[in-house]
Amino acid sequence: PPLAKFVDPLPIPLAAVPDHEAYPGADYYEYTMRQGRWSFHRDLGPATVWGYWAKDPRHPGKPIGMGYLGPTITVQKDHPTVVKYRNKLPTTHLFQEVIDAIRDGKPVVAPMPPPPYHAHKPFPDDVNVWNVVHHHGGFTAPQSDGMPHQSFSPDGIHADGYTTLEPHRVKRNEAIYGYTNHERAALLWYHDHGMGMTSVNCYAGLAGLYIIRDREEAKLDLPRGEYEIPLILQDRTFLADGSLAYTMMQQEGEDTPVVNGKAFPFLAVEQRRYRLRVLNASNERFWRLRFDVYPTDVMPQPELPFWLIGTDSGQRAPLRMLSFLIGPAERYDLIIDFTGLPVNTTVTMRNFNAPVHFPGVPGEGPEITEVMQFKVTKQLSGRDGTAPPDRLGLKVNPPVEPTRHTRRRQWVIYQHVLFRTMTLNAIPFMEPSEDFVKAGSTEIWEYINPNHDAHPMHVHLVNFQVLNRQPIDAAGYQAQYDKWVFGGRKKEDFPDVADYFTGPPIPPEPDEAGSNKDVVKAYSEMVTRIIIPDIHPPTRDIASIPDSGAQLPATYIHHCHIFEHEDDDLMRPWTIVKGGH
Ligand code: C2O
Ligand code: CU
Repeated sequence: PPLAKFVDPLPIPLAAVPDHEAYPGADYYEYTMRQGRWSFHRDLGPATVWGYWAKDPRHPGKPIGMGYLGPTITVQKDHPTVVKYRNKLPTTHLFQEVIDAIRDGKPVVAPMPPPPYHAHKPFPDDVNVWNVVHHHGGFTAPQSDGMPHQSFSPDGIHADGYTTLEPHRVKRNEAIYGYTNHERAALLWYHDHGMGMTSVNCYAGLAGLYIIRDREEAKLDLPRGEYEIPLILQDRTFLADGSLAYTMMQQEGEDTPVVNGKAFPFLAVEQRRYRLRVLNASNERFWRLRFDVYPTDVMPQPELPFWLIGTDSGQRAPLRMLSFLIGPAERYDLIIDFTGLPVNTTVTMRNFNAPVHFPGVPGEGPEITEVMQFKVTKQLSGRDGTAPPDRLGLKVNPPVEPTRHTRRRQWVIYQHVLFRTMTLNAIPFMEPSEDFVKAGSTEIWEYINPNHDAHPMHVHLVNFQVLNRQPIDAAGYQAQYDKWVFGGRKKEDFPDVADYFTGPPIPPEPDEAGSNKDVVKAYSEMVTRIIIPDIHPPTRDIASIPDSGAQLPATYIHHCHIFEHEDDDLMRPWTIVKGGH
């Protein structure tokens, strides 16, 4: 039978507690990855899951965690964080059967090809589990960024030949990372980035939130405390006993929305403003969400309007919206106002036209419609002292303007015609970096997407703005690009994307314009242009940890944030080098 909807209260991820002693001048945490049990719904038995547990400095024997996902770290801007990550997961993967089947070429995961990690597996043959924690959205030195080649196994084996951490920060199954927290107030997150294993590791539960606060934000009359609600959106497939099934077969009705670890949860709310901090932590699903009010006659229109006040990398000028499209890894910071709604009104968060592969086949509805529900049932506990979003005093972020000298870099999201593997510029991830960015420079990156699906592209280290998009003759471009790849990459065959434009540039969407981002939706049959200002890594050491600042050259990565795509090969390194004059 289908799961009963809106019967489980929405869990709020627990707060991790910092230790102030271990690294003077920094907040210190100890996170352990473990296998545990978690029930996703009232009527589902407990599932075996993976999650992070944070040591509680007040009760060393009682770590903080719920089994699935991980505790939230909250920091003040510019006050650094040091985290020790320890891998105590089992040495057999939670989805080992699926992984073996993919390796053996069985069609368990359709239509994806097997992840190529086994071809250049950086671990001995008998190692099946490896993990690394990436600090998504962080202005972080490469040693602490948590990139795939920094993976390590529970039995203490670090990826062969690629370890960039100095010996004093890596020990057996542990690694110590430092975060600058120089970002603006924003919702960052952390998640697994294991080499070729990110999809299965994150699906098992390895993700959590990281909130940066700053003085500007503190001055705003925003809903806070119990009125600031994080929403981690995921979709999962369950077996009858409640356990997790990793399958990308997308059989009808199998996908279930999970928010903060519960299927179809509800939140009882007061008649006041709330701040919703929405993260799409799904493996590959886009969601187009709106808030439908019931009974329908309490509002002039069926959906509750809301305000966008921030995106991935911080706040922006408020924008009134009725729905939003959120791709994997994007964050939407929203103010929603339940003030005028009568008691017992329900507000359902509904996914109304985004199928798992966006935009999907026209006419095909989303596999998930209802996600969660807000029930206006709670007694107003006191006056709502928050300001209406348009009077918060949020400023417009100045646009980053290109100049004649701004360098352009092109990345083709390339699907191999025969093998179906996906790469950037038809170069495998493990090939050395060929892209050298001068420290301090501003660049325009163009993601050329001739496929049928949108890809959420994420660049580590930086914040950027969306410049524009331009439609292309995708089939024509793809044919010429194939010819170039298969014809030995001859200069004269290389397609100039400008020859394939089918229209003028299109300005960014209203929610993108003036937003600072670290993920961009690269829509199908389009060139998507972003502008990245002042590219440089943090060079200072953190909390007197030697060699914790970045050295040049500093290599980072960028990739599609559909986990199955980055595991495939849709990911490349890029390198910051000394600036010229
Ligand atoms: Cu959230 Cu490299 O990713
Ligand atoms: Cu992709």
